[in-house]
Amino acid sequence: MRQKIVAGNWKMNKTLNEGLKLTTEIVNMVADEVRGDVKVILAPPYIHLTQLNGQIKNADRIFLGAQNCSQHKSGAFTGEISAEMLASVGVSYVLVGHSERREYFNESNLQLASKIDIALENNLLPIFCCGESLDIRESGKYEAFICNQIKESLFHLNEEQFSKIVIAYEPIWAIGTGKTATSEQAQEVHAAIRKFIAGQYGGEIAESLSILYGGSCKPDNAKELFSCPDVDGGLIGGAALKSRDFTDIVKSF
Ligand code: PGA
Repeated sequence: MRQKIVAGNWKMNKTLNEGLKLTTEIVNMVADEVRGDVKVILAPPYIHLTQLNGQIKNADRIFLGAQNCSQHKSGAFTGEISAEMLASVGVSYVLVGHSERREYFNESNLQLASKIDIALENNLLPIFCCGESLDIRESGKYEAFICNQIKESLFHLNEEQFSKIVIAYEPIWAIGTGKTATSEQAQEVHAAIRKFIAGQYGGEIAESLSILYGGSCKPDNAKELFSCPDVDGGLIGGAALKSRDFTDIVKSF
């Protein structure tokens, strides 16, 4: 059985007090309402991580994630946060290569390969994000584009390292737009990703890889998306900012 995961990416939202309140609500709702083996990840802004860790550390199945990390180990990189620092405050997962990082901060596939390495060295589990723009979708060459993102950032890993990776497929045209990929579109790409991974790492590793869908995932479409055979959960943006919506998504399996 593949691990089911729902991760909330808060992006640059919520003051500390708002974040603590949201977390308290999610912790309670998940404890009361969620059954089964789904893992829940909360990825708040960096400066909230330490306090959120205090709130979730006794909560079954809820883990802390960061939205990014530096590709450097330490040193004169003003404003950056290292993987080692994240691990030191209780972070378990880290998003690598979110499309907003790629687009607004020019993160390249090669730079992301370094972030993956440093995350793994520090025992963080990377959630590697990939996905195409509307232009690429309309050109019809989206599968090749996504496979190349994966190849350039991940295929230097050995099998043991690769087995720690989670992949999030997030079509850029669906992020924050209210326009979700259909379950057929999501399943098509997820299956293509799994096949591509199988070609490099073998069927067993590909079958055990969790592949999350992201992009306007909401309580009213999560059930259908999560019922696709190759969709193992979601990376949630907007709907992760409301405890009811987020918990309802977690309950959609
Ligand atoms: P969204 O964002 O759910 O608001 O579309 C998803 C993401 O960017 O991870």
